[in-house]
Amino acid sequence: MEKVLNFIENNRDNFVTELKEFLKIPSISTNPENKSDVRNCAEYLKKEMENIGLENVRLYETPGHPIVYGDWLHADSEYPTILIYGHYDVQPVDPVELWTDPPFSPVIKGESIYARGAADDKGQVFIHMKSLQSHLKINNSLPVNIKVIIEGEEEIGSVNLDTFIEKNKDLLKCDYVVISDTGMFDKEVPSICYGLRGLAYMQVEVTGPNRDLHSGSFGGAVDNPINALAHIISKLKDERGKILIDGFYDDVRNLTEKERLEYTKLPFDEKRYKGDLEIDETFGEEGYTTLERASARPTLDCNGIWGGFQGEGAKTVLPSKAGAKISMRLVPDQEPEKIEKLFIDYVKKISPKSVKVEVKSLHGGKGAITPIDSPAMDAAVEAMTKGFGKVPLFTREGGSIPVVSTFQTILNAPTILLGFGLPDENIHSPDEHFNLNNFYRGILSISHYYNELSKIKK
Ligand code: BES
Ligand code: MN
Ligand code: MN
Repeated sequence: MEKVLNFIENNRDNFVTELKEFLKIPSISTNPENKSDVRNCAEYLKKEMENIGLENVRLYETPGHPIVYGDWLHADSEYPTILIYGHYDVQPVDPVELWTDPPFSPVIKGESIYARGAADDKGQVFIHMKSLQSHLKINNSLPVNIKVIIEGEEEIGSVNLDTFIEKNKDLLKCDYVVISDTGMFDKEVPSICYGLRGLAYMQVEVTGPNRDLHSGSFGGAVDNPINALAHIISKLKDERGKILIDGFYDDVRNLTEKERLEYTKLPFDEKRYKGDLEIDETFGEEGYTTLERASARPTLDCNGIWGGFQGEGAKTVLPSKAGAKISMRLVPDQEPEKIEKLFIDYVKKISPKSVKVEVKSLHGGKGAITPIDSPAMDAAVEAMTKGFGKVPLFTREGGSIPVVSTFQTILNAPTILLGFGLPDENIHSPDEHFNLNNFYRGILSISHYYNELSKIKK
């Protein structure tokens, strides 16, 4: 390991320079106009995998964006096979005017590199590339067998990935899955994420009269879709943060006493949290702490809302249509399909008869919990301790990576989430960035992790 670690130290700056090239490609998966950029990004990654010495590198086509695959399978059969998963697609950049520098012209300021995808997830995918490269360069081999799949549709719900995994069970067969697409608890507080939330994403469309009307001539006699929508939304959650959808909490796995105790030991500063967000009060389900609310309890949020006149000044109109995007973060053992159905039934039940209400489900995914008492987790603790010089904490996070549950069910492989993002790195927002010390220590930790995993004999 000594030589591998030296190689990483000596190439610290080169790795950052290379990361910049990856960050320059606008691989926004949801934008049709970026379709060729997404492909270019996949091609770039393919070249990168070939250059660092992976084999069988190729793109697997899907009905959407391609999946990049590569492997190195020359470790003895007594060593485990690790599947590394990540995504090369990124979120849209809007509102682009709020970025200090253009989102696809990476710049280093202070300790961080700024660009869309820096932390979510290109920087973290690169941590694995550079770790593999360092091992292969120095030893001409890896401590374990490695398979890598990096997809281009994570940010749009991994729409084609489950089918790909179903169809390629043998190709992807492995003992463990390792993903770096989560965060650390705080700066200088490395952590291992053992739980993620699921998601059910809905769209509600309300239609009133067949055309926009004069609100003086018709108002008071014809229902207004925006008012009706507001009525519906107001009945989804009560003022204590409890979701009112019938049966919503039925399958929620409650926090254990032990878990709740562990949560209290995390170095969380509520005052700093509020200060950072410039809010006077936090808000959420009664009876739970901020950390519990944001990671281990389900929730419901409006993500977008439209209807009527949005321009400057006043226009007296009774609009024909209104709509909202509403997502629910789920926890084990809530099933997205079941929750979608409960949502639809409930919205139908509370909808005023004076408007037509259509509810669609956009996409969803299951939450996941990985047991923390396993050899692969012990190895992760060891690796992070070596990489950061500190024993990592265990946390659950509120975001979603739906494929984790697919890996668990289809490949029967436990997933270890070793993430290096920080909570204030603005993923999905303007000025996304990634701390370069954590990029470096991430490469050290992951390089150690491959090595630690080789000590787990089958
Ligand atoms: N990397 C995130 C997931 C994440 C964020 C995990 C923060 C832990 C902490 C991932 O790229 C993501 O954004 N996932 C989406 C889900 C998807 C179905 C669109 C999410 O959580 O909104
Ligand atoms: Mn991500
Ligand atoms: Mn994301």
